[in-house]
Formats: sequence, C-alpha cells, structure tokens
Amino acid sequence: MTHQSAFLLIFCFVHLGTATSTQHPDCRARGGGFNDTSMALSLRPLSAYADALCQDGSPAALYVRQCCNGPDPGDWCNHTQVIPTWLVVFGDGNNDGWCWDAASCAARAREFPALTTSSGLPHFFSRDGDNKGEAIGAFSKSGEGNPNFYPSYAAYVPYCSSDLFVGNSTSREAPHFRGQAIALAALTALSRDMHASAASAPGKELNVVIVGGAGIMTQLSQLRAVLPSAAKVTAVCDGCVLFDDESADRALSANPTQQDRNRTGNPCNGGDAYSCLPRQTLPQAVKLWSALDAFGLCLDGWRCLLDAPARLVAAHNSTPLLAQQPLYDGHAISSHTEKTPSAVRARITKALSSAHVIVGSACSTPSAAFTRSAFNYVTFGGGLPPLSFSTAVNALVRGGKVQLLDTCEGINCNPSCTPAMIE
Ligand SMILES: *[C@@H]1O[C@H](CO)[C@@H](O)[C@H](O)[C@H]1NC(C)=O
Ligand SMILES: *[C@@H]1O[C@H](CO)[C@@H](O)[C@H](O)[C@H]1NC(C)=O
Ligand SMILES: *[C@@H]1O[C@H](CO)[C@@H](O)[C@H](O)[C@H]1NC(C)=O
Ligand SMILES: *[C@@H]1O[C@H](CO)[C@@H](O)[C@H](O)[C@H]1NC(C)=O
Repeated sequence: MTHQSAFLLIFCFVHLGTATSTQHPDCRARGGGFNDTSMALSLRPLSAYADALCQDGSPAALYVRQCCNGPDPGDWCNHTQVIPTWLVVFGDGNNDGWCWDAASCAARAREFPALTTSSGLPHFFSRDGDNKGEAIGAFSKSGEGNPNFYPSYAAYVPYCSSDLFVGNSTSREAPHFRGQAIALAALTALSRDMHASAASAPGKELNVVIVGGAGIMTQLSQLRAVLPSAAKVTAVCDGCVLFDDESADRALSANPTQQDRNRTGNPCNGGDAYSCLPRQTLPQAVKLWSALDAFGLCLDGWRCLLDAPARLVAAHNSTPLLAQQPLYDGHAISSHTEKTPSAVRARITKALSSAHVIVGSACSTPSAAFTRSAFNYVTFGGGLPPLSFSTAVNALVRGGKVQLLDTCEGINCNPSCTPAMIE
C-alpha cells in the first residue's frame, strides 16, 4: 500500500507538471446541442488493475465525467458558484444484494447477470435511457433540476463483485470476490483526475464525497489513503443500513436450531439476499469473500456490516457522515418477515440517528437514491426551495447539519414518494 501511494504521488507530480493549463471540455458540441462526451459519464475500464475483477472474471470498470464549461457562468469550472466537488458513487448502496455460497452465486449470475460482469456495460452511464437529466439524480446536468450539483465532477463504480465491495478472495476461478480491489483501483485511477482538477482551480478546496453501502463505509480509512491528501472527504451512507433481528438474536445466540431459523426469517430464495435475514447469509458470505481484512479496526466479524452509520461515526468521527435510507425500505421489510413496517421504520430511524446529517423519507423505495430522480424529487415539507436529499448533501459538503425525517405515518405517506408520471 505504501509503495503504491508513493508511486502514485510521483506519477501525479509529473502529470501535473505537464498539464498546468488544464482545459475543461466544452459542455456544448461544436455543431450545436450538448456534447455527450462532456455531459455524460463515460466508461473507463480498470483492466490495468489485474485484481479488479467482476464475479465472472471480467475486468471491472468505472464511469467518469469531468466538469465542463458552458455558456452559463454556473457551468464554468474555474468560476462556479457551486462548490466544485467530486461525487464518487459505489453501486447503489446495498440495494443490489450479494451472494453467500456456491448455489446463491450461481443463481445470481443467472437471475441478475448484469450485476456479475462488466461485459455489455453501455458507453455512457444512464437510468431509463437518460444520461444527463433528472433520472440520474446528483449526476444530472440540469441546472434547474439539480441546482446543487450539476457542475460536479462525477464517478460511478458499477457493482459487479456480489460482495458489497469487501471481498479479497484470491481464488483463480470464478466466482471471484474482488470488491476491495475494485474500490481501491477505482479511487487510484480517479486520484490522477482529482489532482488535475485541483490544479485547474488553485486556491479552492478539493471536495470528495464518497457514496456507498455498508461495505464501502467499513473501508473508509483504506479508501481515504489513496485520495489526494488535500482532499476534504465526506461520506454518504446511501441505503447502507443492515440490521439483525434483535429478538432473533436473543433466541439464537446460544445454539440456533433449524426451527429457530425458520421462525425468525424467510427461507433464503435463489440469489436474493433480501429473502432472508442478514444473519442467515452474511456469516458464510464474509468467509467466502475473504472479507475480514476490509473491516479494519472493527473486530466483530460479519456484524461489522450491520448498523454502518454508528460504526463509522465511532471509528472516524472526524469524517462528516450523511446517512440516507427510506424508513419503510422494502428490502428491510422483506428480509424481516416477523417485523411490522412500523417496527422496521423505528429500527432504521435508530440506525440513521448516529450520522451528522440524516435523510429518512417515509417511502419504501429507492433504497439508494443518490443517482436516482428521488435525490431531488422526494421532498420534506412545503418550503421553497424544497428540502431534499440534495439539500442535505449540500449541507454536508459545507459542514452544516440537517435532519430530514418524515413524521407522517404509513408506507409512502409522503406524497412525493410516488411523483406523478410526467409523459
Ligand atoms: C465533444 O467533446 C470531446 C471532449 O470532451 C471532444 O473531443 C469532441 O471533439 C467534442 N465533440 C463535438 C462535436 O464538439
Ligand atoms: C473561466 O472560463 C470561462 C469559459 O471558459 C471564460 O470565459 C472565463 O474568462 C474564465 N475565467 C477566468 C477567471 O479564467
Ligand atoms: C425449516 O424450513 C425448511 C425449508 O422451508 C424445511 O424443509 C424444514 O423442514 C423446516 N424445519 C423445521 C424444523 O421447521
Ligand atoms: C488482500 O489479499 C492479499 C493477498 O492475500 C493481501 O496481500 C492484501 O493485503 C489484502 N488486501 C487488504 C486490503 O488487506
């Protein structure tokens, strides 16, 4: 690790030396209209990093977008009114689940093939065919739709390792679990771009927002170590809360029988980790993934993945943390069969409460909202401009404190959970 960082620093120094007048790309195409290469996030393979492999052995990849200059001064990367910021997003929080044994990994490759490989990744990052508008949440280039973050630098690391980005298994054949190597490779590759962006805005802060699920949150200090040392790092735990069933804990702590297991969770189903309790899959999973070295100072084994906000604040109180999760998260409800939605809500509220900045809507989906339209469109109260996840991330980056927690009761009682479809 030390050797790698020293090498990287030397490399960057040389790179900066030859690129003192970094030109930002133009947002507009020469013939008129927008230039997708500047406006959208483009695919960049990580094939230079031999260990950064997807479950099926294909090289992992990331998507990157620099800040572009446009006709509006708000788009000028040298001059922006909005804090210039790198948003680095690892998958969709815990949303896409994981696999935990040979059968569930094979089922995952069959049922969710796109989550186990990099082959077939499109050239531009998009949601529902939209690569620069409001469907991609914080990545949107719309000044009106995404006022806090449209000029940002953006990176997205697709999740293809089925291991919550914590695996470090050295198995030579598929399934591979190399999520740790993927996360480190992605940040190492981005670190060069971050140095260049800092050089192009002398005297300004270099803000880096790391967004991810439970596995990324456990590794924050290892990830921090490959970023430029001047970067001001904040963390967003986006749909990252996993919790065990406390009554099951008591019933099972001594010596669980098969009957106890059946009583306290669903039978796990195919490749769907949310068809059962975390305790039914994660103990085997972290062994299969060789994940324990990702947990740093946390010595609780698989439980290091539970209650990520509290653990992160306990380990790194100096890194400002935002935690976001819908209070009626559908995945949490489906994995805790015996809990009522209001009990799940109480448990998620408790888990979020450790963070410095809190976003909890009374919605059931999406679990991770950072790169979804819900980032701007799920609102809290009727004020103007409306308060949203976006407002809260802006406060986080500026060092403020915000708590956005719905008080209405019932799944989707916040009317903005299900916005009217716009044709
Ligand atoms: C679009 O931008 C890229 C660089 O970001 C540039 O190489 C390309 O020539 C531009 N295309 C047009 C049509 O302006
Ligand atoms: C910033 O960039 C814009 C667009 O490229 C340019 O018009 C402006 O003069 C630049 N300002 C400074 C202070 O360099
Ligand atoms: C537990 O559930 C499994 C699968 O649903 C079933 O085959 C088994 O008989 C159950 N065992 C007990 C003790 O209830
Ligand atoms: C991952 O495993 C390799 C080989 O066992 C080891 O050298 C490396 O230090 C591990 N990575 C981390 C982050 O501990």
